[in-house]
Amino acid sequence: MSVKVRKAVFPAAGLGTRFLPATKAQPKEMLPLVDKPLIQYGVEEAVRSGIRNILIVTGRGKTAIEDHFDVSFELEHLLQTRNRPDLLAAVRQISDMIDVAYVRQREALGLGHAVLRAREIVGNEPFAVILADDVIEADPPALRQLLDVWERFQAPVLALMEVPPESIPSYGIVAAEPVEYNGTRDRLFRIHDLVEKPRLEDAPSKLAIIGRYVLTPEIFPAIEEAGPGALGEIQLTDGLRRLLRSSPLYGYRFHGVRYDAGDKLGFLIATVEFALRREDLGGPFRAYLKSLKL
Ligand code: G1P
Repeated sequence: MSVKVRKAVFPAAGLGTRFLPATKAQPKEMLPLVDKPLIQYGVEEAVRSGIRNILIVTGRGKTAIEDHFDVSFELEHLLQTRNRPDLLAAVRQISDMIDVAYVRQREALGLGHAVLRAREIVGNEPFAVILADDVIEADPPALRQLLDVWERFQAPVLALMEVPPESIPSYGIVAAEPVEYNGTRDRLFRIHDLVEKPRLEDAPSKLAIIGRYVLTPEIFPAIEEAGPGALGEIQLTDGLRRLLRSSPLYGYRFHGVRYDAGDKLGFLIATVEFALRREDLGGPFRAYLKSLKL
């Protein structure tokens, strides 16, 4: 019988050092792409993929995230009296669409450590992990594409994307062999090994892990057993490597466009492209960009 994935975990306790000073007093996950905070794109992807139980792993200085997904009576009242039903709906929709819980990661000891913090609330069922830095435009949503693989194979699966050689040392890289799926052999892979942020010469392929995972609770002891790895952090990739001893692991090269919003240039690219696609902004913004005569 197929077990459904009901919960999505959002690690959001990182220090956001790449965006200092903007992230000194504001969580990186709240930086807006046009007019929506980064983390909301990920949460909406989970909802569109059929998951509305959201667990956010937060840390010190992250209360803005909790406030964002909460009801704001003052703001709603103000919008009501000013007769702005459009904005009222946008603000309400955020708190209405999910059931959200928070758990604290007291120290930023790595992605694996953040996932471990979700153990109690996730319990004994499969769950998704979304890294909000990776914003993915896709239809169906990237997480939905992974869940389809999960429903077929009932085994953990992560998102993959081919990256250029110079980017390899920034990612988790997999060694994998293609598997027939939906009539092709170029989307689904059976993973045989993984390495976090390898040097180019040590990388087993160009296939990088992108921030979407469907995992089973067996990942928790696997992370614990793996211990600290690259950068002295407790890495999810090392836990997955350990998990391979007892479970098959799949990677899916998703359809869609991924933006690395955790990087300044990637963030700017995402901002421009999202703004150009907006009905209300696209026209004048395109005209402005053209006027720059670059
Ligand atoms: C994390 C993961 C890495 C993955 C990447 C995707 O790294 O550890 O395996 O490739 O996300 O964005 P980070 O970007 O947090 O350094």
